[in-house]
Amino acid sequence: MGIIEDLEALRAEGLAAVGAAGDLPALGAARVAYLGKKGSLTGILRGLGALSAEERPAAGQASNAVRVALEEAIAARETALSAVELDRKVAAEAVDVTLPGRRRAPGHCHLIDRITDEIVEIFLGLGYRVAEGPEVELDYYNFTALNHAPEHPARAATDTFYARDLSGEAYEGIGLSDVLLRTHTSPVQVRHLEKCPPPVYIIAPGRVYRRDIADPSHLPQFHQVEGLVVDEGITFGDLKGTLDHFCKAMFGEERRTRFRPHYFPFTEPSAEVDVSCGICGGAGCRFCKNSGWLEILGCGMVDPNVFGYVDIDTERYTGFAFGMGVERIAALKYGVPDLRMLVEGDMRFLRQF
Ligand code: DAH
Repeated sequence: MGIIEDLEALRAEGLAAVGAAGDLPALGAARVAYLGKKGSLTGILRGLGALSAEERPAAGQASNAVRVALEEAIAARETALSAVELDRKVAAEAVDVTLPGRRRAPGHCHLIDRITDEIVEIFLGLGYRVAEGPEVELDYYNFTALNHAPEHPARAATDTFYARDLSGEAYEGIGLSDVLLRTHTSPVQVRHLEKCPPPVYIIAPGRVYRRDIADPSHLPQFHQVEGLVVDEGITFGDLKGTLDHFCKAMFGEERRTRFRPHYFPFTEPSAEVDVSCGICGGAGCRFCKNSGWLEILGCGMVDPNVFGYVDIDTERYTGFAFGMGVERIAALKYGVPDLRMLVEGDMRFLRQF
């Protein structure tokens, strides 16, 4: 068979291979097989040298025509395959905008902050204002001006976190005073009365610290809300009515309150307040240790000795104060069995509130 026939056979075979290439890699392989350095066409061209001078031009032209034909076919096939490839990619990467989005739970207020807000709101509704004081406090405000005797057990270094007072200097109008992390929000009473004359109706939320080991009913750091009212003609009846209203607003209208005599250095008389158990309605159950009552706060009539520290005329003014633990109220309201759950940050627990 002559070289022209070889070329024609090669053209037919090459065009068929190009047509059969299903994707760009296959087309690349066909290009190499027919037009590459070791390809079929190159092989035939090598044979040209053996031809006579008369045969060579025709064979050269024919081989050129085959190369051009194959190149054109390859280019056309490449365009077609690229379009198919692009369509496939677009289809594969298509986004279904009708699919529902992935939900990310929005953050929310921690239960402790929410309960604090609820307590504060109830008293704002009664016309109280919010007051605040420092967490790093002077012994003077935390104990002395709240009528604690120098040997009062709460002052012990085993119960209270003391800080070193770097100033080493006397405080204006107070003298020397130890520095500590406040053990209750009651010092805000004294700080407020120093600045603001009666009538005073304040609610003071905040963080407090005690040297307790964390257990189901104690945390070394927790929150309290303090209340203080000082005005003319304030009686224990006002205190009872106010706290009864608070308990019903906080826990439900059907709840009852009872006042048990107690002792606090800064109030006289003092009481602890119980709210009727929400689980058994007061009949007695495990939640209330069969008593029918749950203790929720301490309160009393402001002791005249406290008024003495802030120069309030005890002939003209009387007042009441109360203080409650926020963690405890949250635990009672939602049946949380262990206060530590409130601070461990376990989302499975926190998400419920
Ligand atoms: N400060 C008290 C405590 O930490 C709670 C308390 C009791 C506050 C009686 C008061 C009060 O204002 O009158 O346990």
